[in-house]
Amino acid sequence: MSDYINQIRQGDCLKLFKQIPDESVDVVFADPPFNLKKKYRTHHDDLEFQEYLDWCEEWILECLRVIKPTGSIFLHNIPRWLTYYASLLNKNADFRHWISWEAPTAPMGKTLQPTHYGILFYAKNAKQNKFNEIRYPHKRCRKCNYLLKDYGGKKHLLHPFGPLVTDVWTDIHRLRHNKYRDKHPCQLPIHLLERIVLMSTDENDVVLDPFSGTGTTAIASKKLGRKFVGFELDEEYVEASLNKLSQEKPNSRIGEYWVSFHLDKVVTLREKDWESIEEFYSIPSNIKEIDFKRIKLNEKGKECRCPSKVVETESVASLPF
Ligand SMILES: C[S@@+](CC[C@H](N)C(=O)[O-])C[C@H]1O[C@@H](n2cnc3c(N)ncnc32)[C@H](O)[C@@H]1O
Repeated sequence: MSDYINQIRQGDCLKLFKQIPDESVDVVFADPPFNLKKKYRTHHDDLEFQEYLDWCEEWILECLRVIKPTGSIFLHNIPRWLTYYASLLNKNADFRHWISWEAPTAPMGKTLQPTHYGILFYAKNAKQNKFNEIRYPHKRCRKCNYLLKDYGGKKHLLHPFGPLVTDVWTDIHRLRHNKYRDKHPCQLPIHLLERIVLMSTDENDVVLDPFSGTGTTAIASKKLGRKFVGFELDEEYVEASLNKLSQEKPNSRIGEYWVSFHLDKVVTLREKDWESIEEFYSIPSNIKEIDFKRIKLNEKGKECRCPSKVVETESVASLPF
């Protein structure tokens, strides 16, 4: 197992899974090909209906085998396939959430326009499952800066940072601009994975992604001080991942607290850390002012905020092929 820690292995995940012992990883996040005829470099994304589902069953059972009793599995896909995944998972794990990640797609005609991906969240064992409540910043009107949600007479109860994250995620956008993307047809945003990692793991826990693509899960895990294991069929995607990983450090923090940044702002933090992180922010003394005032990192916060990127590089794990 130690040979696989903090590595992205090139190959078929079903073969690579055989090297991973039972109950040895904390979290699996899987974002498989959706069988929608996407143009991957190596993988043919066009299986027969039952062939695709049989293949999914094989790797989902492997995911469940390697997760610790305290661990979680997150499966990202379109709702159509998730309904089949759920019926398999219901027999082998404990349902926690169907997370709806809002992500508008092109209109398809004669149907409701698909506007979310699903992320199925199951615990290996609900009673032992590791889970952290997390918060995201209040949503505001772009023009007037007021909170979008009307809290009416309850403004004195506002949380300075923002609400607890629910099972509907509307604040994380798909990667649209080429300058933020690799040459990969369905790369996920890093801060989507950081939210999942913060919610389900602690420092040094192990996160496995059997369809690593260009390394989003591995990068999120590394930035947050977690360990990662990645499998990916395509050599070029592996190489792109290793290059990016070499430029990241475990440094997505304020003080000693792990948080997720996007465009220089904290976009997810853990509820249990807020009491300690609070001193790094300027917060209005009258909490009702949060309605129109955004909290900002104060001088101490700016000093204690680790950079999300460093210039120097560290040695890259050698290519396994
Ligand atoms: C939906 S993409 C994952 C993208 C990834 N989440 C990211 O953000 O970069 C699915 C990936 O699975 C890879 N893949 C397909 N079949 C595979 C297999 N049998 N074993 C490992 N990887 C595979 C594809 O090459 C593709 O990069």
